[in-house]
Amino acid sequence: MRNFWEKSKNKGRPIYALAPMAGYTDSAFRRICKKFGADVVYSEMASATALVYDPAKTLEMLKFDPVERPYVVQLFGAKPEHFAAAARIITEKIGPDGIDINFGCPVKKVAKQGAGAILMDNMPLAREIVKSVIDSTDLPVSIKTRTRVNNTDILEFLDFVRDLDIAALMIHGRTLKQGFSGSIDTAIIKKARDHFDGVIIANGGVGVAGLVAPEDKRDNAGSHAAGLLARTGADGIGIARGALGRPWIFKAVRTGQDIARSPRAVFKVVLEHARLTEEHKGGRGIVEMRGQLCAYAAGLSGARDLRRRLVGVKTVKDIEEVFRGYEGLRVPDNRF
Ligand SMILES: Cc1cc2nc3c(=O)[nH]c(=O)nc-3n(C[C@H](O)[C@H](O)[C@H](O)COP(=O)(O)O)c2cc1C
Repeated sequence: MRNFWEKSKNKGRPIYALAPMAGYTDSAFRRICKKFGADVVYSEMASATALVYDPAKTLEMLKFDPVERPYVVQLFGAKPEHFAAAARIITEKIGPDGIDINFGCPVKKVAKQGAGAILMDNMPLAREIVKSVIDSTDLPVSIKTRTRVNNTDILEFLDFVRDLDIAALMIHGRTLKQGFSGSIDTAIIKKARDHFDGVIIANGGVGVAGLVAPEDKRDNAGSHAAGLLARTGADGIGIARGALGRPWIFKAVRTGQDIARSPRAVFKVVLEHARLTEEHKGGRGIVEMRGQLCAYAAGLSGARDLRRRLVGVKTVKDIEEVFRGYEGLRVPDNRF
């Protein structure tokens, strides 16, 4: 089946994807990233089991705006029958462009359910899960993995599922043991090409200080991205932490433009982000996005003081007030 993954690949330039981040990649943030040039955006991971037993809250979380397309919903879980039911529900009630399966999450709460990264080390069950999703939707199905989990590396894993119609693969270039730090294994991502027929997205370290190479600075996002693409030969890259507080990273990696922005330019994006959040989630949204607000403050002069005030905001008006007091800046009221 010709799907959006193949179409994106055939545009002849790398695919830049916003990788999934629980607690961050909500509709407002995805829209902002999209505006700055993200080609594909992923939802926060959603529990397949919750979608079966108590779907309302999860469905609310997964809602999206058409401007986000192509939009991929990521599911986590441990039971093939829950994945099958969840895939049907997502296809019918949300209608994204793709469904992704989480084989990379190291979080204890997730691992305890038998879900996330540890599934990579249980290939028969992982295979059954992928098959159950493919059989339950006409949407393209992708997977997100690590390079190794215990005794299983990504190449063996891919061989085990090779005959299944998996459209795309995002590899976080670290083992489960490494967690979220340490070097990215670009060599194994490159080898994955011989074990997988779909689109390959390399992930890890872009726009994150010192993680691609120890001497790298956080602002070298363009060279991180180019290096990751060149060394892996992947079709695209996934960016997660590097986009927090700087969604314009997508423009920077695409154009080679400097990632630093003036305070005024940062505020403009923050306000747009906050307004979209309030629109989607109401008042609770601003409280929930305080972490993101602090990420925006990082890198600005007086960041500590700015953060101290941002952690107390409850409304868009509060945010405007904080900025009004910052270096006498005028609050930009036009949308960007
Ligand atoms: C706060 C946070 C939440 C994350 N949530 C998810 C998730 O829901 N699903 C997933 O597959 N990966 C998740 N990840 C992993 C990222 O998608 C990504 O693989 C990892 O952070 C490495 O990429 P980076 O160096 O660009 O951040 C999360 C990472 C962070 C930091």
